Amino acid sequence: MPTATINDIQMHYVDHGAGAPVLLVHGFPLDCTMWDPLIERLQDDCRLIAPDLRGYGKSTLGEIDPDAGVSMRQYADDLAGLLDAIGVDEPIVYCGFSMGGYIGWQFLEAHGERAGGLVMCDTRAAADGDEAREMRLKMARHVVEWGAGRVAEAMQPKLFAAHTLESRQELVAQTVAVITRTNPASIAAAQRGMAARPDMTALLPTLKLSAVGVVGEEDALTPPAEMEGMVVAMPSAELTMIPGAGHMTPVENPDAVAKALREFLERS
Ligand code: MLT
Repeated sequence: MPTATINDIQMHYVDHGAGAPVLLVHGFPLDCTMWDPLIERLQDDCRLIAPDLRGYGKSTLGEIDPDAGVSMRQYADDLAGLLDAIGVDEPIVYCGFSMGGYIGWQFLEAHGERAGGLVMCDTRAAADGDEAREMRLKMARHVVEWGAGRVAEAMQPKLFAAHTLESRQELVAQTVAVITRTNPASIAAAQRGMAARPDMTALLPTLKLSAVGVVGEEDALTPPAEMEGMVVAMPSAELTMIPGAGHMTPVENPDAVAKALREFLERS
């Protein structure tokens, strides 16, 4: 399993296939294994690099991160560091899922010359409202005593489409297991970072790169209407609605997400 020393952490990543590089950035509180179904389908088409963000999967968390929080910019800087470490200097397609998308805006601001295309997967550009921010900070304060299992339990109904929850228990259980084994300190760190993240909607009209918004028809966390608004605000973006999926489109309907990515790579 490859690991690189990036900033103050050890970052684990997987790197499959060859050709145009696509950086797959997972959501909260998950790890790079959420991309396995997509990697399986796309590794003959392109190069797929999927890191574990700091504190997730097999990557370590920085010493100050649990209390200070990890900003979306810090995660973005880690990703740029990883590309340096593995010698990727040609433009990548940045594909960010949910929190991976929040990180994407910072990546584009700070390291925009490294991105040749953008896939926004079940994500948003707006910051949190007061209530959502307070919920995140509450979780950050208590998650060590609660344990990650309680977070998994609370998130499960919001992550998947109704049909997935009813009839695809094995798939749901895989994601629940990933959340349950996540370090609670990493959950606290990311929640503090997401609570503090800026509203990035003003960036959208300025983005020249080609982009596609991919969203589950039944996504309750980052709803289709929000993605539609983002796509309209960008000069060069298209929308692909994913049927039979809630928030977790890459695992609920990987065929449709792989098709959307393949078509995007072909036209960009
Ligand atoms: C995610 O899937 O990354 C999270 O739902 C993002 C969030 O908590 O806003």
